[in-house]
Amino acid sequence: MATYVRNLATVLFALQLFSPLVRSVDVTVYVTYPLPPGTTGPDAISFTEDGVGPFTGISDGNVVKLNPLLGTYEYFTYAVPNRNKTLCDGKSDPNLYSKCGRPLGSAFNGSDYFYFCDVYFGLNGVGPSGGQATQLVTSADGLPVFFCNAVAVDPINGMVYFVDTSQRLKNITQMIIANDRSGRLLSYDPTTGNVKSLANGLAGPVGLAISNDGSYILITALITQTIQKFYLTGPKANTTETLPTSLSIPGNLERIGSLDEFLVPENIGPVVHYAIKIDGNGRVLANESIAGPYANVSYLRDLQALGDSIFIGSAFDNFVGATASLLGLLE
Ligand SMILES: *[C@@H]1O[C@H](CO)[C@@H](O)[C@H](O)[C@H]1NC(C)=O
Ligand SMILES: *[C@@H]1O[C@H](CO)[C@@H](O)[C@H](O)[C@H]1NC(C)=O
Ligand SMILES: *[C@@H]1O[C@H](CO)[C@@H](O)[C@H](O)[C@H]1NC(C)=O
Ligand SMILES: *[C@@H]1O[C@H](CO)[C@@H](O)[C@H](O)[C@H]1NC(C)=O
Ligand SMILES: *[C@@H]1O[C@H](CO)[C@@H](O)[C@H](O)[C@H]1NC(C)=O
Ligand SMILES: *[C@@H]1O[C@H](CO)[C@@H](O)[C@H](O)[C@H]1NC(C)=O
Repeated sequence: MATYVRNLATVLFALQLFSPLVRSVDVTVYVTYPLPPGTTGPDAISFTEDGVGPFTGISDGNVVKLNPLLGTYEYFTYAVPNRNKTLCDGKSDPNLYSKCGRPLGSAFNGSDYFYFCDVYFGLNGVGPSGGQATQLVTSADGLPVFFCNAVAVDPINGMVYFVDTSQRLKNITQMIIANDRSGRLLSYDPTTGNVKSLANGLAGPVGLAISNDGSYILITALITQTIQKFYLTGPKANTTETLPTSLSIPGNLERIGSLDEFLVPENIGPVVHYAIKIDGNGRVLANESIAGPYANVSYLRDLQALGDSIFIGSAFDNFVGATASLLGLLE
């Protein structure tokens, strides 16, 4: 059973009143926030450390900021220099991505600086007031960043980690068919501007998250349907391990607050989606069905926890969704 409402305050109020009842009959309450007209694909969700947001990149090349209490969006940033608003705003045509941009994964450094991947324009960054972003990285180790997809920032030292999903293809379906193994894990040091390739030959890295102490990174590998752990410090530093977890078509990974627990969507079929909570060793801590407004969507991409809510990003849909902590994921 699912209830659709437009206002998070209403949901939270309803949950306070009915929480025990609601839990006993396992009702999941979803809120949906329709995107600006004509746009789709709120692929990744991020918040500032202070909980401002969510921010999400959409199909017309904009990153927008949602006000969840009002259900309204404002434009925040974009990657393309002199982006043509007349041509681009309100569009969801993949043929325009190379002109208008297509922002995907994003992450804040604290609450001050916003990093995001654009499929056609590499790694970008912008300050808290937004506007045209600064292009930070377009190549690494002499190879172009071909498919910048997901970003994470080290909460201790501000180092930026991101994935180049493929060196050959920008289309996930085609990557699966081609059994692509040309993904990379890259780092960007904002203090020196140095860019490094930390791991090569990855099997469709489509998401990453960094541990709370900055000692390791988890990466979802779409092609092998696994999670890889890259150690940044300690005796295993600079090595990659494949965790035992198997995930059908995983999306992005997000750390839950300051816990070393992570949320990742699993797409079993076009209409069958799960929210998976794992620990740093890939152990599954919770596995909950995501349905309601997501019952008929094709690719869930991101689950981002904020307080008692989880905000949901997807690749092709025209709304951002949220659900309260009824999923057992935030316990
Ligand atoms: C922006 O796009 C519109 C619509 O395609 C076009 O008419 C206009 O000339 C473009 N402006 C610039 C500065 O390229
Ligand atoms: C990132 O945040 C740290 C403090 O958390 C700050 O010292 C640093 O200047 C920030 N870097 C950027 C690029 O904003
Ligand atoms: C990706 O590739 C598939 C299979 O070739 C195709 O059906 C789909 O339209 C492509 N998607 C985009 C956005 O080009
Ligand atoms: C890991 O690689 C970096 C260069 O990318 C190097 O500076 C560091 O010493 C290496 N650490 C270990 C333990 O090998
Ligand atoms: C989550 O649960 C579904 C339904 O039982 C199952 O098909 C899927 O494999 C589970 N995922 C994980 C990672 O355990
Ligand atoms: C999913 O269902 C809703 C409500 O019936 C409909 O408006 C929407 O277009 C459907 N989405 C897809 C991707 O079929």
